[in-house]
Amino acid sequence: MSDKKKKSIILDGKLLSNQIKEEIKAEVAQMIDREDKSPHLAAVLIGDDAASDTYVKSKEKASKAVGIISSVYRHKSDITEKELLQIVDFLNKDDEIDGFIVQLPLPDHIDENKIIEAIDPKKDIDGFHPINIGRMVAGLPAYLPATPQGIMEMLKRYEIDTEGKHCVVLGRSNIVGTPISILMSRKAKPGNATVTICHSRTKNLEAITRQADILIAAIGKPHFVKADMVKDKAVVIDVGIHRIKSEETTSGYKLVGDVDFDGVSKKCSHITPVPGGVGRMTIASLLMNTMKAAKGEVYF
Ligand code: GUN
Repeated sequence: MSDKKKKSIILDGKLLSNQIKEEIKAEVAQMIDREDKSPHLAAVLIGDDAASDTYVKSKEKASKAVGIISSVYRHKSDITEKELLQIVDFLNKDDEIDGFIVQLPLPDHIDENKIIEAIDPKKDIDGFHPINIGRMVAGLPAYLPATPQGIMEMLKRYEIDTEGKHCVVLGRSNIVGTPISILMSRKAKPGNATVTICHSRTKNLEAITRQADILIAAIGKPHFVKADMVKDKAVVIDVGIHRIKSEETTSGYKLVGDVDFDGVSKKCSHITPVPGGVGRMTIASLLMNTMKAAKGEVYF
């Protein structure tokens, strides 16, 4: 078969997230008309990690573009755990704020779990609080973590059939790998997949990835997934985002995912690009959760 015929379909996160943002913008306008109220999302950013700063700025920009009020609480990395808990408490109690996130990772001297558990589950639009995780597992209304929810929304809008398919997830993080494995196996559409989670201790990883009808790569290693690890016509979702040195760009850097796009895209049926794939959906998904919080849709 020629290369041209083998080209895969690009799952366009930019296009989809723009559609979602237009839908949210219309909903916000209706809310302002009806209740004279705009949804309000807050973010807490500790320290000066470049990737975290970029994420938070993107969230701020996207919120403002749809009419969601955005506040960012920035603090130096020497903030104490107690001071951060006080900020969380303040945000929990502030009626003007519908939902907020504490950007991760936090400095080493702060216990991340302690901070997450201090967030009011009703305002936990990241869906990281154990109550929201538990509700998700039980199939109850819950805030779903933004990246997995964004992936599910993408599969839904592209009408990818997941029922009875073998979905292999690379990575078991609390933010992506674990929740996406639960959502994919749930009795729902999309969902109803048979899920295998692979991680750093998995043996014969390549033999498992080659069985995947749907491969979700969230392993945090640039270009980890090569063409020979992928089954013909698989659907490949790339969660990774890495800035690597490149001679192809004037900046000397380019963004790549966990998947070797050039090789894998010739073999699979659908693939998400980096950038312009899952990352875009994550931000749109956080805005969806902010809307849910403002409308009282999850906890009522
Ligand atoms: N760090 C990387 N991804 C995320 C996310 O989705 N939410 C938060 N709070 N921190 C992150």
